[in-house]
Amino acid sequence: MNSLLERAEEKVRSFLREDSSGHDWWHIHRVVQLAIRLAKYHPEANEEVVLLAALMHDVGDYKLHDGDEEKGKAFLHQMLDELHCPAEMRTLVLQIINEMSFRGGVNKTPPSTIEGKIVQDADRLDAIGAIGIGRAFAFGGANHRLMYDPSVEVQEFKTSQAYKEAKGTTINHFYEKLLKLSEGMNTEVAQQIANERHTYMQQFVDRFLQEWDGKDR
Ligand code: ADP
Ligand code: NI
Repeated sequence: MNSLLERAEEKVRSFLREDSSGHDWWHIHRVVQLAIRLAKYHPEANEEVVLLAALMHDVGDYKLHDGDEEKGKAFLHQMLDELHCPAEMRTLVLQIINEMSFRGGVNKTPPSTIEGKIVQDADRLDAIGAIGIGRAFAFGGANHRLMYDPSVEVQEFKTSQAYKEAKGTTINHFYEKLLKLSEGMNTEVAQQIANERHTYMQQFVDRFLQEWDGKDR
């Protein structure tokens, strides 16, 4: 019998094989690798919990379940059932996933456990830098969004519902979310990595806007 983590990886891999919403398997792979890197600086963290939460963190995302949060949650619970995940571990993993989402910037409370802080940092790191830029445009294309339109204003979301329903441009998404992420890392090492990735992303956006109208200012 394979270990819980091996079986979880297999299930998640096959579920996300064909995703184009920015949650393909390689996103999960990178989040797992980043989480392992961050966990090395936090020996107090339970590595099995970190790894299982990193593997499962997007399985119940509403974007993978026709926009239906309840359906997503039920799917995640069912997967944990099928894995025969021990009750204590299941509670911890569900708590981490519940506490880590961005929800349009409305959710500002940091995760309550070190394992949650690590997985949230790993997920946020994968949304910035060169990979973050690539994922944003992939998401934009898959969702029929324009790269940029100067007449569409950047929004400040007051509720997670407003964030969910927004139909802005991909460049606006950098201002609405991606360029804010590096302000709030939970762990020190993630903060260092984030600072570098942030600078690169800011340079990209500046350059994009310089080239935008063909004037290369
Ligand atoms: P995460 O896996 O970090 O929870 P999300 O579910 O919020 O990320 O989104 C998946 C990917 O798609 C991320 O890289 C994110 O930046 C990108 N994305 C989400 N919403 C938009 C948007 N409105 N425009 C462009 N990219 C987006
Ligand atoms: Ni994710």
